Amino acid sequence: MTNERKPMSLQRLLDMHASGDKIAMLTCYDAAFASLLDEAGVDVLLIGDSLGNVLQGESSTVPVSVEQMAYHTRCVARGRKSAWVLADLPFDSYHASLEQAWHSAAALVKAGAHMVKLEGGGWTAPVVKFLAERGIPVCGHLGFTPQTVVALGGFKVQGRDEQAAELLKRHARELQDAGATMLVLEMVPSALAAELTKTLSIPVIGIGAGVGCSGQVLVLHDMLDITPGRRPRFVRNFMQGASSVQDAVRRYVSEVKAQTFPQDDLHGY
Ligand code: KIV
Repeated sequence: MTNERKPMSLQRLLDMHASGDKIAMLTCYDAAFASLLDEAGVDVLLIGDSLGNVLQGESSTVPVSVEQMAYHTRCVARGRKSAWVLADLPFDSYHASLEQAWHSAAALVKAGAHMVKLEGGGWTAPVVKFLAERGIPVCGHLGFTPQTVVALGGFKVQGRDEQAAELLKRHARELQDAGATMLVLEMVPSALAAELTKTLSIPVIGIGAGVGCSGQVLVLHDMLDITPGRRPRFVRNFMQGASSVQDAVRRYVSEVKAQTFPQDDLHGY
């Protein structure tokens, strides 16, 4: 089947958030999957630094470099036709200075990214502002942030108590005010994620954050059930009952759009 979808745009993603049309995002690291996911209707392809775990066999995302992210971003950008291309700024690529952040983000944009994603709140707002003012669309990432798994004390749901929830809400507003045009929320209680989705004017994409977000994202290899070892409880195996990988991805897209995925009570590991 040929892909006749219109190319995704930032405005369309903002419109989908405003109108309540759900956004289906999956991680993607190469051209073959980019083509398959695009044809199956995925709206946003995320070149996640999860490629450190998934492709490289590392125990965290920390060792991933900008060069590696740019390589995979280029592969995905070549394979996609209409999906939005979002690439992660890896650990130690935006932390040292605004200048470092600019050069890292520019490398990903030159490789084909439409938007870059960075993790954390508070100190990241000036980084977002710097990049957004210079024309690079930025997505924030709050809640559980894999690049700082050690500081967070492990794979834990974030924003559970009132103080943590208030801090997360403040960080989300600061990112939006700084010019972020999308936000990923990972492993936060669904009521908090739903509240943020209602109050922010930018799309909020959840992963282990309940069904009340503007859209969902999963690590591709998790939902295809080919990740070795432990998987978070919020992941569903979409290969179960599917006739092919394409069928599994189509089912993911349609369940996200119909809001039958995720189940609301599964947030963590
Ligand atoms: O790197 C990644 O795959 C991500 C998702 C977990 C959102 O950032």
